[in-house]
Amino acid sequence: MNRVKTLETERLILRQWEPADADFVLDLYSRWEVQRFIGNPPQVMTDRAQAEERILAWRAMDHPVHAVWAVQVRASGELAGTLLLKSIPASGGSLPLQPSGDTEIGWHFHPDHWGHGYATEAAAAVLAYAFEGGLPKVVAVTAPANTASQNVCTRIGLVHQGQTGRYYNTLCELFELPVHP
Ligand SMILES: CC(C)(COP(=O)(O)OP(=O)(O)OC[C@H]1O[C@@H](n2cnc3c(N)ncnc32)[C@H](O)[C@@H]1OP(=O)(O)O)[C@@H](O)C(=O)NCCC(=O)NCCS
Repeated sequence: MNRVKTLETERLILRQWEPADADFVLDLYSRWEVQRFIGNPPQVMTDRAQAEERILAWRAMDHPVHAVWAVQVRASGELAGTLLLKSIPASGGSLPLQPSGDTEIGWHFHPDHWGHGYATEAAAAVLAYAFEGGLPKVVAVTAPANTASQNVCTRIGLVHQGQTGRYYNTLCELFELPVHP
């Protein structure tokens, strides 16, 4: 069963990840320039089994609105990156970190597809989908140095709230959009 709703924008298709996408997932997450601001501490993916496992975990997400999409360029059919709408973990003393109750939106794109506005176009579609799905609030967090991601946040209308230590046991820049003001 395909639980992930396919979303379409002018230039992109956001669809469920498939097992056959593992080579792309490995290529994406094995790059330090992609991974350097993700995770605490950041770690690159090293083998295809990890990519396959990641895809299975994304496909197993069981939530009425949360999902992780593969972003595909319509014109070429190429995969460009990942769009995430998921539970964000709270900071805390013991691992694994517990859910905070908030939903985060996130984006990880392949460097070959940076600089085209694809992340912003895909993220805007997912934010609208979150709103239609009735989520009360969506947040985004970035490393303080990740200006490229902060620019995506503001381009889709998220508002900078300063820094927070509330999530992921680290200090992040916090961006929020109250979906139902
Ligand atoms: C964060 C990330 C997705 C941003 O990618 P990006 O390509 O810069 O972001 P956008 O898709 O919004 O593209 C914007 C750029 O495309 C340009 N662009 C070109 N054609 C465009 C078009 N038709 N429409 C809109 N923008 C266009 C914009 O001018 C802008 O360029 P600039 O940054 O030089 O000003 C990317 O850097 C990334 O994947 N990083 C690694 C993972 C990561 O850190 N994720 C975030 C964790 S918090």
